[in-house]
Amino acid sequence: MSALFPHRHLLGIEGLSAKDIVSVLDTAEVFYEVSRRPVRKVPTLRGKGVINLFFEASTRTRTSFELAGKRLSADVVNISTSTSSVTKGETLLDTLKTLEAMRPDVIVIRHPSSGAALYASQKVGCSIVNAGDGTHEHPTQALLDAFTIRRAKGRLDGLVVTICGDVAHSRVARSNARLLGMLGSKVRVVGPRTLMPADCAALGVEVFDRLEPALEGADVVMVLRIQQERLQGALIPSLREYSKTYGIGPRTLRYAQPDAVVLHPGPMNRGVEIDPATADGERSMVLEQVEAGVAVRMAVLYLLAADPGTGMTAG
Ligand code: CP
Repeated sequence: MSALFPHRHLLGIEGLSAKDIVSVLDTAEVFYEVSRRPVRKVPTLRGKGVINLFFEASTRTRTSFELAGKRLSADVVNISTSTSSVTKGETLLDTLKTLEAMRPDVIVIRHPSSGAALYASQKVGCSIVNAGDGTHEHPTQALLDAFTIRRAKGRLDGLVVTICGDVAHSRVARSNARLLGMLGSKVRVVGPRTLMPADCAALGVEVFDRLEPALEGADVVMVLRIQQERLQGALIPSLREYSKTYGIGPRTLRYAQPDAVVLHPGPMNRGVEIDPATADGERSMVLEQVEAGVAVRMAVLYLLAADPGTGMTAG
């Protein structure tokens, strides 16, 4: 276990201290520089094994964990459950036990059930990283968002961050609200009441149902994806109506600070929660977030799996 990050697993932002989070962000700065070199590989995790076990679709998270492991010289295996024995009825427990028998050092898991990563951590001996569990947490997304904001603004403390949209179904919002609040940002959430979770008070955020006051003076506007695959029943009248009332674009961004930056975890529903020109505009941090994702995930794998005393760029 690393003195910088005294945890065996990364299951959520809940359970981490502000010091742990800063350790990950500072470590990621080193790997961000490594990822910009002509040769983007260090021997740090040579001989270690990482398995990416994804029970849900992913482009950014899975690819960046794969690249992160490979840039650290680990052996990386990706398992998509649609082509695994899960399709033959194998249980999560049997899948985990089977993979554990191959002696990986880390299993990165994404699963539609909240609590799946915690369950995995109780059943296997290797480190578990939560790559998104149901509507619960997506800790590496929050870490990469914080890394992106800190690079853009030079700090997290004292910033006003407005998280817009489908908060109820968003593990990204939950992890971000926890992390940013812990590091001194003032976090607001805004969206239709039907898309606000019951536990907003526990997250320590200010809740709005109108966009304009929620964006007033914001330094960071974090736009969430409308998760049509998780929406059950008539929680919003229509996507068109939602876009008119809660869509982020030039008209609504006038309320935020003139130098406010716009984040979106992806994948984006262009023309629904975000105007396409804003998504591609100069305030947009969307591709910076993707680049940060590799560095932050390198930091997480390093902190969990490197042998004690191994330097960040040494074997
Ligand atoms: N932000 C995010 O988790 O994207 P993917 O679903 O593409 O991994």
